[in-house]
Amino acid sequence: DHTHADTLRTPIVAVLGHVDHGKTSLLDTIRGSAVSEGEAGAITQHIGATDIPLDTISGMAGELIDPSDFDLPGLLFIDTPGHHSFSTLRARGGALADIAVLVVDVNDGFQPQTEEAIDILRRTGTPFVVAANKVDTTPGWNPQDGEPIQRSMDAQSERAKSMLDENLYEIIGQLSDAGFSADLYWRVQDFQKNIGVVPLSALTGEGVPDLLTVLMGLSQRFMKEEMAIDVTGPGEGTVLEVKDERGFGATVDTVVYDGVIRNGDTVVVGGQDEPIVTEIRALLRPRPLAEIRTEKEFEKVGEVAAAAGVKIAAPDLDQAMAGAPVRVVRDRTVDQVVEEVKAE
Ligand code: GTP
Ligand code: MG
Repeated sequence: DHTHADTLRTPIVAVLGHVDHGKTSLLDTIRGSAVSEGEAGAITQHIGATDIPLDTISGMAGELIDPSDFDLPGLLFIDTPGHHSFSTLRARGGALADIAVLVVDVNDGFQPQTEEAIDILRRTGTPFVVAANKVDTTPGWNPQDGEPIQRSMDAQSERAKSMLDENLYEIIGQLSDAGFSADLYWRVQDFQKNIGVVPLSALTGEGVPDLLTVLMGLSQRFMKEEMAIDVTGPGEGTVLEVKDERGFGATVDTVVYDGVIRNGDTVVVGGQDEPIVTEIRALLRPRPLAEIRTEKEFEKVGEVAAAAGVKIAAPDLDQAMAGAPVRVVRDRTVDQVVEEVKAE
């Protein structure tokens, strides 16, 4: 039943991978938007956050998912840049994640930032799946828009199928070289022991239902162990970006990964010189399915529970820093929380 879906913490899914391998395009397909096209040089330069509700996920996954099997409110996707100069942002995105999608261009295979992402996932012990993206670029591919990958495979010539297989086994071999036992996802029984590889195309959407299904399964399993966290405690988050917002001055786009943040809360935010102690004037939420990075319309809300992307408006935030912690004070002393923030 869904009775406690409201109090369960939304899992955070980081999307990692080499530059241009299709991370933002994959999220565009899932949220039905086109963020990638609007990016300068089509390169992601910041961490993003998009809340995807359960009904959107189950709608896309179609026959592969029975939503009544899941207790989750949805998934919060974190987009990260693949360009080599953004390693801090990748590490930050990886550290926030409960689970991750490693996007690999099926033709290019492992590249330097794929290796870097794998190192982050290994270091943080984050369970992940591999999205073997751009299957539609296989010579002779017969696209099956939005279909589950098995059905799409059935529609391909033997030649196209064997070319794709060759590329997929290359990736499975590279994962094995990196120390992970991996296989095509439909052969994987335990996704925490073996890495599932999901062939898909962000462009045509084929295989995306499969990816969402695997992610929901991983989250559900993970949640049983760790996610049923109390989301009523004082909110904790990380600053993604500091931005000027008309009528509000400096605001911080934040991923709340634990607890609850309320309008009027006293918060401590990591600053350039010292922690900033301030009081929240407004909590601004992007619409569901909207990327906080590019969203223009925000809804004022009274509170948000983890995990969520939210823009915080408060005095004195101009000295805040991307990557800095955000902590609600609530029933502790300000000094206590300031010390906590300094220690991060
Ligand atoms: P960074 O954020 O800069 O690391 O790149 P990214 O991984 O987000 O890649 P992005 O989604 O911006 O895609 C890079 C290019 O690959 C764009 O031109 C996309 O249109 C193209 N692309 C992404 N996915 C696919 C796919 O499945 N098939 C094809 N044919 N092209 C794709
Ligand atoms: Mg991108």
